[in-house]
Amino acid sequence: MIPELTIVIPTLNERNNIEPLVERLSLALDGTSWEVLFVDDDSRDGTLDVLHALSRRYAQIRFIRRVGRRGLTSACMEGLSASSAPYLAIMDADLQHDESLLSQMLAILKSGEAELVNGSRYISGGGVGEWNEGRQRLSHFGTRLGQAILKTRLTDPLSGFFMLRRELFDEAIDRMSGLGFKILLDLVSSLPRKVSVHELPYYFRKRHSGESKLDSLVSLEYLLLLLHKILGSYIPVRFLMFVAVGSTGMVVHLLVLGTLLNFLGLVFVWSQTAATVMAMISNYALNNLFTHRDMRLTGPALLRGLVLFMLVSTIGALASISVATLLFDNGLIWWAAGLLGIGVGAVWNYAVSSVLVWSRIR
Ligand code: GDD
Ligand code: MN
Repeated sequence: MIPELTIVIPTLNERNNIEPLVERLSLALDGTSWEVLFVDDDSRDGTLDVLHALSRRYAQIRFIRRVGRRGLTSACMEGLSASSAPYLAIMDADLQHDESLLSQMLAILKSGEAELVNGSRYISGGGVGEWNEGRQRLSHFGTRLGQAILKTRLTDPLSGFFMLRRELFDEAIDRMSGLGFKILLDLVSSLPRKVSVHELPYYFRKRHSGESKLDSLVSLEYLLLLLHKILGSYIPVRFLMFVAVGSTGMVVHLLVLGTLLNFLGLVFVWSQTAATVMAMISNYALNNLFTHRDMRLTGPALLRGLVLFMLVSTIGALASISVATLLFDNGLIWWAAGLLGIGVGAVWNYAVSSVLVWSRIR
């Protein structure tokens, strides 16, 4: 018998939160047929040991271990995809979300009154607790930006705590970006129609144990998600990031070239070579930090990646030169030939480095 409800919970280093959470879920969902599915991104703090032990003991507890990947939304998407239950919920592992709402959420969905029930901190009865003013303002601003791209009205599209009918997820998944932290926004904005929603207030509690995984890059990821939704899937946002990093590489290149040539008196060919190498290293580092943040390389893999990246970029540069020269020799004006050459090089570098350096295929 498959359960009626699957609660998908993403985890990254949440060792001390798992057991108290499971206890609370059992109490809150007494009398319902439910399971919990943890999606762990290869935590290093012993979370996996706890998950192993619990899932051996209770059939209601399952987990997926993802290796070499990161990301809250993509983890949730995999969890939701691995369930066959008719009702699905998303919830954090750190006890900040109010589990006592779950049975009411389920009842609302089963009554057919709504396809989605969202936990909201921004309706009366809800709240965010001990946030400082900066974080509150940021959250409000992000909420308003998010609402601007939604057809469906949600008071708290960034909540991270909601339940839905599985058909709704099946309808959205193809168009979801999977980027960043904001799964509900990603999901609802991926639906071509308005959704019937019910919102229930909850109080965003203090984290039980461990640390928040939200860092300064989360805002950037959020903007990328919005950009992705606005541009549609015509231009991959990741490619735009790659191009932006490439432009910073040009600045690095010119700075190094100018310094070596004018201040250190190196001959042009060596200055240019050094500038090229420096620009490649800088592009590699920035792409690793930003563009491919979810597959970031560390440790020994970092050096191997650099060598591969330089190899790929060198071939890209040769391709760019050949294409531009060919076009120029056939009568195209110099700047158009140059730009098209750069375009070919950029697409090559992006496509090949995505597969070879930040490997999506292992
Ligand atoms: N698998 C996986 N991979 N899980 C992750 C990752 C990841 O890369 N990053 C975070 N998580 C898990 C955490 O372990 C936790 O269970 C949950 O996702 C939320 O992460 P927190 O680090 O606790 O985030 P937060 O409390 O700062 O943010 C929460 O509140 C926001 C509302 O202000 C999240 O629920 C956000 O989605 C929400 O918008
Ligand atoms: Mn949290």
